[in-house]
Amino acid sequence: MYNTQAVLTNNNEIILNYLIETIGCQMNVCESDWLGSVLSTYGMSRVSSLSDADIVILNTCSVRYQAEQKAFSYLGRVEEFRQQNPDTKIVVTGCMAERLGLKIKQRFKSVDLIVGAKDIDITALKIIDLCNIEAEKQEELNIPSDIARYVTIMRGCDNYCSYCVVPFVRGRETSLDAEIIVKKCSLFVKNGAKEIMLLGQNVNSYQYNDVKFTSLIKKISTINGLERIRFMTNHPKDLGDDLVSVMATEPKVCSHIHIPMQSASNKILKAMDRKYTYERYLELINKLRNVITDVSITTDIIVGFPGETESDFEKTLKAVKDIRFGGLYVFRYSPRPDTKAFELIDDVPLEEKKRRHAIILKESNKISVEIVAAMVGSMQQVLAERFENGVIEARTRGGRKVFVKGGTGKDLGKHLNVVIKEAKINSLFGDVV
Ligand code: SAH
Ligand code: SF4
Ligand code: F3S
Repeated sequence: MYNTQAVLTNNNEIILNYLIETIGCQMNVCESDWLGSVLSTYGMSRVSSLSDADIVILNTCSVRYQAEQKAFSYLGRVEEFRQQNPDTKIVVTGCMAERLGLKIKQRFKSVDLIVGAKDIDITALKIIDLCNIEAEKQEELNIPSDIARYVTIMRGCDNYCSYCVVPFVRGRETSLDAEIIVKKCSLFVKNGAKEIMLLGQNVNSYQYNDVKFTSLIKKISTINGLERIRFMTNHPKDLGDDLVSVMATEPKVCSHIHIPMQSASNKILKAMDRKYTYERYLELINKLRNVITDVSITTDIIVGFPGETESDFEKTLKAVKDIRFGGLYVFRYSPRPDTKAFELIDDVPLEEKKRRHAIILKESNKISVEIVAAMVGSMQQVLAERFENGVIEARTRGGRKVFVKGGTGKDLGKHLNVVIKEAKINSLFGDVV
């Protein structure tokens, strides 16, 4: 264990090990990775097990009650560890840190530092300060050489969907500087990245000065060595023809798009303040499918929103059957303090929410099995992301995972043409041509 006055010598004799545990969306994963890179420039070293950690950083999510419960149970475990290891520092960051702030400390007294999601830029500095490190910051950022990387392009959200806590914990929507985003992407590519996933709560409304989302994509696509661009999430109300056409014409942009539908009942969509109707949503899906023939469309659905009757639910189920999404996430409605819907009576009983959830999941799984079965025998272009035990782990342009035989470690980061031999619900198996 280090003492809190630890000073890093020039040759890093004392190295602090930090563990980052991340709950929540890709944005949190992205921010945890970035935080890790910054801490590493101060000579700290990332570890993956609690027993090795001098500093435990928990990056939290508030989107559903369950996500917060997960953080609490993790903190319970960390507090136990701390009893045996009193020098361990405990840091809580992210959306729940923003929402609950010091209230977290009332329950978990040994938490040393709480930094909310809105203060993401100063998190690393606060941690450095907490650890009393007098280290020279290195010039070069320590960037892992992952083949697929996330890059956040905007923060916050202005949409205030009636169920959602994100605008409260992440603040107003702000688009980040386009030039800095391009530089960051180039840096990742220089370090071996071949695929960039651009992240924002609503990437369609990205605008920095006169750079809109589609112009940002075009700028990024000029980066030499970058093979693939993905992005998420899209709000149906803002998804314009310009993006559809960039997806169709720009070869680096993958043919996958995530467009949360939430519900197919116009009454519920209105109560959710989603600002589109199911008919409008369907139009968008049809347009995408007409213009981009191999497009894979995935979605999010909430069941059991206040006032959702059996007939509202049937509409959503029918939409799932009709649209045949490439994949979907389905959530049971969870009332969140501060949101508009929190005022409504949460009138769909838990058992009923569970039933609706299971029905959507079952239908979606059935469709997924049919979609992947139809891919057997087809040729897919995949990007090789990992190599383990003689098998390459790769992804199709539509985002499906493929385990590939017949390649070597030298294929990592390359596009391979693969014939699909076998299909399971969440993964395909194929051979290099
Ligand atoms: N900005 C993204 C969503 C981020 S939250 C978007 O609008 O696409 C991810 C998903 O969590 C949402 O799409 C929604 O389906 C679900 N979600 C958000 N708040 C929820 C709540 N209170 N209860 C249940 N699911 C919720
Ligand atoms: Fe939440 Fe709606 Fe914003 Fe998505 S668009 S983060 S669901 S408020
Ligand atoms: Fe993401 Fe959860 Fe925050 S979904 S934005 S980590 S509330």
